Amino acid sequence: MARTTSTATSTCFLLLCLYSSFYPTTSAPLFPKEALPTKSGYLPVNPTTGSAIFYAFYEAQAPTSPLSRTPLLIWLQGGPGCSSMTGNFFELGPWRVITSHTKNAHGLSLEPNPGAWNRLFGLLFLDNPIGAGFSIAASPEEIPRDQHSVAKHLFAAITGFTSLHPLFKDRPIYITGESYAGKYVPAIGYYILNKNPQLPVSQRVNLAGVAIGDGLTDPVTQVATHANSVYYSGLINERQKRELEQAQREAVELVKLGNWSEATNARSKVMEMLVNMTGLATLYDFTKKKPYQTSYATFLNIAEVKKALGVNESMVFEECSEVVGYALQDDVMKSVKYMVELLVKKSKVLLYQGLYDLRDGVVSTEAWVKTMKWEGIEKFLMADRVVWRVKGELAGYLQKWGGLTHVVVSGAGHILPADQPSNSQAMIEDWVLEKGQFGG
Ligand SMILES: *[C@@H]1O[C@H](CO)[C@@H](O)[C@H](O)[C@H]1NC(C)=O
Ligand SMILES: *[C@@H]1O[C@H](CO)[C@@H](O)[C@H](O)[C@H]1NC(C)=O
Ligand SMILES: *[C@@H]1O[C@H](CO)[C@@H](O)[C@H](O)[C@H]1NC(C)=O
Repeated sequence: MARTTSTATSTCFLLLCLYSSFYPTTSAPLFPKEALPTKSGYLPVNPTTGSAIFYAFYEAQAPTSPLSRTPLLIWLQGGPGCSSMTGNFFELGPWRVITSHTKNAHGLSLEPNPGAWNRLFGLLFLDNPIGAGFSIAASPEEIPRDQHSVAKHLFAAITGFTSLHPLFKDRPIYITGESYAGKYVPAIGYYILNKNPQLPVSQRVNLAGVAIGDGLTDPVTQVATHANSVYYSGLINERQKRELEQAQREAVELVKLGNWSEATNARSKVMEMLVNMTGLATLYDFTKKKPYQTSYATFLNIAEVKKALGVNESMVFEECSEVVGYALQDDVMKSVKYMVELLVKKSKVLLYQGLYDLRDGVVSTEAWVKTMKWEGIEKFLMADRVVWRVKGELAGYLQKWGGLTHVVVSGAGHILPADQPSNSQAMIEDWVLEKGQFGG
C-alpha cells in the first residue's frame, strides 16, 4: 500500500465546532471504549536512542482455543513508509473509520468491521519501519535502508511484544502484510528462521507462517510483466505495449548494473506510463472510477484519538512517510525471493492478490513464483487451480502444494481486505487453520 487519497474531513465548520463545545454530551464519543485496542503503545527497537515501533493489539473476539494457544497475526503495511493504521482503520481491523456527519463535530466515527481478521486470532498492527505512522525514529539515520535492518527492528518489536504478557509468549505467529510488505514479511520470517537456532528455546519466535497480499517481492521479474498484463486486458494497444516494454527493460538493465536508485526511478516511470496510457483512476483496481477514499488520517490526527491510542498529541500522523520512502529508495528493486524459498520449506507461505490489481497483482506474482528454487515448485505448478467458494459463492481461485498456497480473490484490488472484507477473513482463517478448501 498505499498512497491513498484523503477526503478533506478535517475542516472544522464553525457552527459544528460551536455546537460541540456548547453541548459536548450530545455528541457520541469519538473513540468508544469497546473500540479501543486491547493494548497499544510502543515497543523499543533501540532503548538508548528512544526509537520505537508503535503497536495496536486486538485480542481474538471469538477464539476457538485457549488464548495461550490462539494464533497471533501480525500485520505490516507497505509503501515503503505507509502506516499499518491503514490496515487497522481502513482494511482488516475490528473497527473502521467512516464519515458520518450526524454523530459528532468531526464528521467521523468508528464502525465494527464484519470482516475483521481478529475474529478467531489475536491481531497485532506494527507501524514499520520506524519513522512510519506513529513509530518513532530518534534520528533519520536510524531509519532502515535495507531489509536486514528492517527485520532486526521487527524482531526486537515482536520479542518485546511477546514478553509483555504470559498470554502472548508461545502463541503461533503468522506474519502478514500487503504491497511493499512483500519485502518486509519475507525479511522478518527469514530473520526469525536464522535467529531462532542461536537462541534458548524461551526466547525464540514461534513462527508458523507468512502471508503476502499483492506484494512486491521479486521486483526485477515483476516490473517486466506490466506491458503484457495491461495489453491482454485490452487497456493499451500494441505500439504502447512496445513503449512500455522498452521502459521495463530499462528498469531491468539498471538492476543488472546494480544502479539501485535509478532502477527504482525507472520502475516509477513504468507506473506513471501505465497511469497515463490507461487513464485509470488507480492502478490498485482497474474497475474503480475514483481512487480509494479514506478518512482515517484525519481521524488519527484528532488529539482525543491519539490520547486513546497512547500516542503523544504532538505527533503528526501521515498515511505514508516520505522520509522512510526515501531511506528505502535503494532497496525497492532488490529481490527477497530467496527468503521466500527458505520460508516455503521451513514454514508455510500464502500469496494472495486481488484480481483487479495492476500494480502487484496476479500476473506479476505468478511470474516470479514459477522461477522459485524449491523442490516442490513443479508439483505446485501442476496442481489444480480450484474454484474457491465462500458460503457457496464464487470468491476466487486457489492453488496449493506443500507449504505454498496461492489465492486469487475476485472482486478485489490491491487494498484487498477493504474490497472483500468477509472473503479475506474467510481466506486468512481457513489458511491458518487449514480448513475447508485450504485443508489437506
Ligand atoms: C545510474 O544510472 C544513471 C542513469 O542511467 C546514470 O546517470 C548514473 O551515473 C548511474 N549511476 C551509477 C552509480 O552507475
Ligand atoms: C504522464 O503525464 C503527465 C501529464 O501529462 C506528464 O507530465 C508526464 O511526463 C507523463 N509521464 C510519463 C512517464 O510519460
Ligand atoms: C510529547 O512530545 C513533546 C515534543 O516532543 C515533548 O516535549 C513532551 O514531553 C511529550 N509528552 C509526553 C507525555 O511524552
